[in-house]
Amino acid sequence: MRHWIVVPAAGSGRRFGGGVPKQYLELGGRPVIVHALERLLRSDPAGLVVVLAPGDEHWPRLTGRDDPRILTAVGGVERVDSVRAGLALLAGRAAPEDPVLVHDAVRPCVALDDIRALLAAADHPGGAVLAVPVADTLKRVDDSGRVAATEPRAGLWAAQTPQLCRYGVLVAALAAAGAGDASITDEAAALEAAGHRPQVVPGRRDNIKVTWPADLALAAAILAAQEGA
Ligand code: C5P
Repeated sequence: MRHWIVVPAAGSGRRFGGGVPKQYLELGGRPVIVHALERLLRSDPAGLVVVLAPGDEHWPRLTGRDDPRILTAVGGVERVDSVRAGLALLAGRAAPEDPVLVHDAVRPCVALDDIRALLAAADHPGGAVLAVPVADTLKRVDDSGRVAATEPRAGLWAAQTPQLCRYGVLVAALAAAGAGDASITDEAAALEAAGHRPQVVPGRRDNIKVTWPADLALAAAILAAQEGA
């Protein structure tokens, strides 16, 4: 069964700060996004769409973007808008029943085994999502920095990417979510809002998302450990 991949990479990295968007920062000698793309391409997709910010100056200079399976689209205001743009480029290429993986450009440590485990869940009608059980105790914190409540941790999982869904089902779910909807932070949220119940596929803890500056050093250590394994 052939599959497709969409990689939203149109974020500006508001939380990370600094000038260069985090997907283009160097990690072990290569930009963050190049690690992610290499790992995704190893799953042998029929095509992979990278969704770029309008006027992105970094992508054209990137080595590692010349694989013939890579296509590019221009993203939108929120992540959900960028994913929608990536899926739109696949119209006429992907069949409605083809599985599509969506993976954040800023998760460079994703393991091929996890991608394969997710693809093995492609028959699930509501899609599938890699996730890990939450380990920390979760506090709700008010504006003054004080703990307002402790959230019960039982049954809570942290969703990662890739997330998987049949092309037709995902397009319909994202069409139903409004443009610029910042509350839809992953594909599973759009699928849930459309009445689906995505399957959780337990993932590896080292599939971290580079969000804060300290994550870069952590990602470098993870990549080094994976290469040594
Ligand atoms: O901002 P956040 O860390 O949730 O971004 C996750 C992924 O979504 C990143 O790869 C980022 O580049 C991408 N993104 C996007 N379009 C946006 C916002 C984020 O493609 N408007």
